[in-house]
Order: sequence, then C-alpha cells, then structure tokens
Amino acid sequence: MLFESFALGGITLANRTVMAPMTRSRALNNQPSELMAQYYAQRASAGLIVTEGTSPSPNGLGYARIPGLFNQEQASGWQQITQAVHQVGGKIFVQLMHTGRVSQQANLPAGAKVMGPGAEVCAGEVWTDANGMQPYSAPTPMADSDIAQVIAEYVQSAKLAVQAGFDGIELHAANGYLLEQFLNANVNQRQDGYGGSAEGRNRLVLEVAAACVKAIGADKVGIRISPYGVFNGTGAFEGVEEQFLALARGLSALGLVYLHLVDHSAMGAPPVPAAFKKDLRAAFGGTFIAVGGFDAQSAQQVLQAKDADLIAFGRPFISNPDLVTRLKTGTASTPPDMSTFYTPGEKGYTDYPLAAA
Ligand SMILES: Cc1cc2nc3c(=O)[nH]c(=O)nc-3n(C[C@H](O)[C@H](O)[C@H](O)COP(=O)(O)O)c2cc1C
Repeated sequence: MLFESFALGGITLANRTVMAPMTRSRALNNQPSELMAQYYAQRASAGLIVTEGTSPSPNGLGYARIPGLFNQEQASGWQQITQAVHQVGGKIFVQLMHTGRVSQQANLPAGAKVMGPGAEVCAGEVWTDANGMQPYSAPTPMADSDIAQVIAEYVQSAKLAVQAGFDGIELHAANGYLLEQFLNANVNQRQDGYGGSAEGRNRLVLEVAAACVKAIGADKVGIRISPYGVFNGTGAFEGVEEQFLALARGLSALGLVYLHLVDHSAMGAPPVPAAFKKDLRAAFGGTFIAVGGFDAQSAQQVLQAKDADLIAFGRPFISNPDLVTRLKTGTASTPPDMSTFYTPGEKGYTDYPLAAA
C-alpha cells in the first residue's frame, strides 16, 4: 500500500510516503536558497515533502539559519524550491514553525522579540552563530494585541506560501514551539481566554487554523501535533487526551486536510498510547499521518491496519534521497551523520549517494 497513490485534498500524491519536516539550518540570513532547492528536489520521489520548520514572523526565527516566509524575498526564494520539486513530479507543503519562547535573542533579526504564552524561560541552551551555546532568552508574555498579530502573521505567511507555489502549509503545533506552548498545560499558565482550561489552551491553534483556512482554503492546511511529547518543557498533563480529542474535533470541523501525529518513542520520548491514537484518528476523521521510527515493514503494517493513511519518514530521508526506491526494493539504507544535521553547506546535506543501479 505504501507505494500506491493517494488523493490529498485537491492533489494526488504518487505514493503514501511523506518526507517529515526537518530543520537543517542551511538558510543563511533566513533566506531559502538554491542549495535547498537541490536538497528538496533530490528527495521529491516522496509522495509529499513537508519542509523544515519555517517562520511566519521575524519573532519566530529562534534557531540559527532557519528559513522565514514573511516577505517577498523569502517567497521568491521558496518559489525556486517549489518549482524544482514540481518539475520532477513531487508535492510540497511548507511547515510554518514559530519558535515562540524556544528562542535566543542573538538568533533573531534586529527589532524582533522572543515571545511566549508567559514569562517562564525554556530550560536548556541553544546554538547561536554569534556567541555559541546560550541559555534560552526570557520571553515577553503575549498580550491580546500580540496574539492578534501572530494570527495575522500566519495568514500572511499562508498567502505567501500559495504565491510561492506550495501545495499547502503544515501548522507546526508540536514539539514545544509557539502553538504547542499554548496547547500544553505545563507551559501555558495563562488565566485569560487563551489558557486556564482545555478550551482556552486549544483556542489559539483553532483560531490560527480557522484564519489560514479562510485565507487559502481547508484543502491546503494540515497540522502537526505531539501529545505526550516531552520536548522543550512540554510533557503530558492531566486531561491531555480529552483536550487533544476536542482539538481534533475542532480541526475536523474546519476541514483541515490532514492531522500529522508525532510519536517520538523511537527517539526516547514516551510512546503515544495506541488506543489514544485510534481515538484521535476517529475524532479527526480525515487524512491521518503517522511518524516516528518507521521502516518499510512497520509502515505497511500500519497502513494495512488502517491506523494511518500516510507514513512520514524523517532521518531516513536525510541520508537516502532515493528512500522510496530503497523501501520498494529492500536496498540497504545509508545511516545519517548526526554531526551535519544542522551545519551550513553541502556536507551531509546534498552529498548523500543514490543506491547503485
Ligand atoms: C535533524 C532533524 C530536524 C528536525 N526538525 C523538525 C522540524 O523542523 N519540525 C518538526 O516538526 N519536526 C522536526 N524533526 C522531527 C521529524 O520530523 C520526525 O518527527 C522525527 O525525526 C521522527 O521520525 P524518524 O524516526 O523517521 O526520524 C526533526 C528531526 C530531525 C532528525
């Protein structure tokens, strides 16, 4: 089933593999480049590519060298990438990732601000090109006007995505970035209408999703979530399942084109309980993407059991540009070199070999 085509909203994917979104930190000055076009085009035999996390706002560029999509120059840079992918028959969504409080002032452009649902600083350190490893910066708690601005930034970015030729956007509401900072009760301590209850914590995500749907159409808006994830100070909380089921129902009512569920247990995170995955899939009702530690066999099993419609692969796509062929033929895969995951340049990026013919 993995190699069968699939109708996703208004487009047809050549197969049911998805290249998972992966930050690769090759976007010098946050500008999408020719090198990135080459990287994505090499991997375009995936049914769908979801790009690396891309910020809809100068305030969301918390990591070094991540790309933006909030001005015309960036949209033009992305256009060469969507064209390169489409030219070889691929499909591509851009992942919109606002880092929120998971950020360092030194990584932000002049005038930009580290923001979050509250004033609590994310524990740990992050790389900056200016000063090496640094603690995360203290976020400014977002006022209602900041929230309204962020929603407007997502809308503007969604429109730029369509202009740049993307087939759609993926809202990154996982892994502890801004949208999950509002969803997660361990991070969101607000007592106003954007916190304090499951409904309050779900509100920003549902408002961003609704605004993007209105701007570019529901068949172009997907979302990624990570209940039970522990990254960036998140983690499960009382009522997590009920809250996420309500979120899935709300997203379903908006007609989102897919729900992408992260399970990082293969990377040491707690597993997402199997029964809850089924409940989430049922609550959403639409296209469901599973990700985390898959190989060809486990992917086929999950598809055959109808537990997902599409299977995303992360690390295998880094080191195997022709992953789909390798999965099909059972050819051994090249292991990824972790030391070049986030380093600038071609090494460990566009220089992985194709399988011998
Ligand atoms: C180098 C690297 C960068 C990543 N960056 C992102 C990202 O920008 N956005 C995101 O949602 N997930 C990101 N992830 C998580 C992957 O999308 C995926 O969920 C994870 O690697 C598990 O899949 P795998 O076991 O097939 O690698 C990243 C993972 C890796 C290894």
